[in-house]
Amino acid sequence: MPNRLTTEIADLHLRNPTILAAGILGLTTATLQEAIKQGAGAVTTKSISLKPRQGYANPAIVQIDNHSLLNAMGLPNPGAKHFAKEIKELKRQRLHAPIIASVFGFTLDEFTHAAEILSKAGADAIELNISCPHVKKTGSEIGQNPNLVSKVVKQVKNTIKKPIIVKLTPNVADITEIATAAAKAGANAITATNTIRAMAIDIETHQPILANKIGGLSGQAVKPIAVRCVYEIYETVNVPIIGCGGITTWQDAVEFMLAGASAIQIGTAIASEGLGIFKSISKGIDAYLRNKNFRSVKEIIGQAHRH
Ligand SMILES: Cc1cc2nc3c(=O)[nH]c(=O)nc-3n(C[C@H](O)[C@H](O)[C@H](O)COP(=O)(O)O)c2cc1C
Repeated sequence: MPNRLTTEIADLHLRNPTILAAGILGLTTATLQEAIKQGAGAVTTKSISLKPRQGYANPAIVQIDNHSLLNAMGLPNPGAKHFAKEIKELKRQRLHAPIIASVFGFTLDEFTHAAEILSKAGADAIELNISCPHVKKTGSEIGQNPNLVSKVVKQVKNTIKKPIIVKLTPNVADITEIATAAAKAGANAITATNTIRAMAIDIETHQPILANKIGGLSGQAVKPIAVRCVYEIYETVNVPIIGCGGITTWQDAVEFMLAGASAIQIGTAIASEGLGIFKSISKGIDAYLRNKNFRSVKEIIGQAHRH
């Protein structure tokens, strides 16, 4: 693939702007490695906490339409110490794509320790998940409060020397207020967005379908909301943005970049399109750039703001 597609997020150099989103196939060396081999410009791990966590009972995922999912997995993960081994193994393979470790915690110290362990294991950047909509005392309970966002980002930033990416929730009245708090506290990049709080009810049994009742909506259904978030954040803060939410085609990726994203993450679409999606989206963006006479994908970032 020509270097028209290279892009940067903080200190991270990506051979193309496609990134595996957190929580989709990001729990083992093998799956992260496969995403890179299949063309991902970078990969994000499943969100990892200091201690192992079981997650919620099934049903934990419901298909909403062909391209949208509702999930309340409950952030199951093996804990930072165990997961550090997966990152070390992945780093040993010297693949040409940065590894972003997603972390979460129930206290400031848990965030920091998990980030420290995964950073030492070799993660190239840390993504702070302060945006999961269905686990209490973490996630969006932090990401909806600018003071807490500031505290978490500052403390992790003071401890870790790697770039800190802050993943925001769309479940707020004003996302620019939260983005500003993250940027002021030292965030090197912002991912927008995590899933949207949602639910589904079975009309035969009259019961909420998810065991947790409420979960997070992802996939094509959320795309226009995520595009709007990226657009508003780009107008407000001067840090690189990673667009995320419903990206299924190269046209979706271009739309996010025009709104202001320097790179994009892909999650739900992998379920319907497979890992080949990284290459097909890169190829589509490249053809678009060629047809429009752009020399670099960086030239289209934020172009929608000129109108
Ligand atoms: C099954 C599933 C698990 C997820 N797990 C995580 C997670 O562990 N951490 C996180 O930050 N986001 C998680 N997400 C959210 C995605 O990373 C992404 O922000 C969201 O799904 C929107 O992008 P998409 O429409 O491309 O999937 C998860 C999403 C799904 C569908």
